[in-house]
Amino acid sequence: MPQLAQWFFRAAVVFLIIGIMMGLQMSISGVYNVTGAHAHTNLLGWVTSALFGTFYALNPAKAELKLARVHFWLHTVSVAIMTPSLYLAFLGYSAFEPLLGVLAIAAFASVLLFAWIVFRPAEEKSSTRGAVPAE
Ligand code: HEM
Ligand code: HEM
Repeated sequence: MPQLAQWFFRAAVVFLIIGIMMGLQMSISGVYNVTGAHAHTNLLGWVTSALFGTFYALNPAKAELKLARVHFWLHTVSVAIMTPSLYLAFLGYSAFEPLLGVLAIAAFASVLLFAWIVFRPAEEKSSTRGAVPAE
């Protein structure tokens, strides 16, 4: 599996652990005040990162692109900062709301970058392709 796919899965599973901890906290306390933070840590963190990782695992040539690394860092850093900010915002710390706006735009930018990577043609496997074979 390409290294980038490993990175996405490692980040995804960390988000899953944190997301489930928030779910357990709500279930145990019976206070459902951080549902939005729990939902997005799981869906944007775990599910979306794992789907990105799956795409790169199935498209190793695209995993080698520099842009794919930019995509990883933009998505992961945005969601990593978004997770505690959302949690605190749902607890009532409204000072985090402007930061959440910036992070949402950053996460959206990472999705647009991913769309570009998905739609661009696959790289040639070998740089010698099309060259005249040696006699
Ligand atoms: C042991 C694991 C989990 C526990 C204990 C848990 C617990 C909860 C709780 C207590 C709520 C709030 C329900 C309410 O507001 O009435 C909730 C909502 C939600 N959870 Fe989980 N959850 C878990 C795993 C997950 C996972 C893995 C995902 C996604 C992949 C997920 C996605 C969601 C979503 C999207 C909502 C919002 C649902 C809505 O809008 O009604 N949860 N969860
Ligand atoms: C940067 C990206 C995203 C932004 C800015 C965003 C924003 C929002 C907002 C403002 C809400 C309403 C929250 C509330 O009423 O408390 C919401 C709810 C929800 N979003 Fe997103 N979302 C994003 C990405 C996603 C993704 C990728 C998924 C699924 C894969 C998703 C699934 C949901 C679900 C299931 C709910 C209802 C959860 C709940 O009851 O709290 N969102 N989102």
